[in-house]
Amino acid sequence: MNAPRNPAIHPKLTDALRIAVTRKAADARALLAQALAEFGDRLAFANSLGAEDVAITHLACSAHLPLETFLLDTGRLPAETYSLLARLEARYKTRFKLYFPDAGAVEAFVAAHGIDAFFESVELRRACCRVRKLEPLKRALTGKQAWITGLRAAQSPTRDGLATREWDEANGLVKFNPLADWSEAEVWAYIRMNDVPYNTLHERFYPSIGCAPCTRAISLGEELRAGRWWWEAPQSKECGLHAKT
Ligand code: ADX
Ligand code: SF4
Repeated sequence: MNAPRNPAIHPKLTDALRIAVTRKAADARALLAQALAEFGDRLAFANSLGAEDVAITHLACSAHLPLETFLLDTGRLPAETYSLLARLEARYKTRFKLYFPDAGAVEAFVAAHGIDAFFESVELRRACCRVRKLEPLKRALTGKQAWITGLRAAQSPTRDGLATREWDEANGLVKFNPLADWSEAEVWAYIRMNDVPYNTLHERFYPSIGCAPCTRAISLGEELRAGRWWWEAPQSKECGLHAKT
């Protein structure tokens, strides 16, 4: 039997949607070009390989914008994400910069708390995110003055009112969110219109993809980020990459 098709990632490409996406894509590309002109090699793109991030990859690569792009490889990413990384690198003839967690810190954390400690408490989950994501992010952003993310306002109430350019107090950097005002349908329309490679987990109802043990598929009607740290209360569901202070 065929798996059910995920309608969220196959929006109907009406003329109105195509026109809206083409306009928004031009704006987003102009913002990327402006960010690059302003910050040059002091700018980096944090790319999780999620749907928004592959769209930004295409926006930049198709315009030959040489954005330094990095992936925080936590060591717990799904196999599908690694296979997408290889497909993206081949398609765009580029190399992502990978940041791994400090091996000694992971060894100490796992020795003290076990391999899947994040299920035990919010504190241990945050500690794991600190070791596997936040410390590598700090290294990735060292020497930078600005960074680019794939955040969208509609992804969660914690991202409400997101601007395309903002001051990131926590990291002391300018932060560009070129897709801040895009809808999920617009992101997928852009991916379809340009045949952009994407994570096959999206076919299986994973709208938001992080580490394998901390991500699950969502059901009809659930929020986009319901599958992230699904065992926790909604208000704790950020890993700290996008802390406000
Ligand atoms: S998270 O904070 O919950 O993990 P989310 O998965 O929604 O964030 O991704 C939001 C943005 O954060 C991505 O578009 C990307 O810019 C950045 N990001 C998240 N995870 C990573 C990662 N592993 N490597 C690089 N950037 C990431
Ligand atoms: Fe650890 Fe899960 Fe955070 Fe990944 S998402 S760093 S596995 S707690």
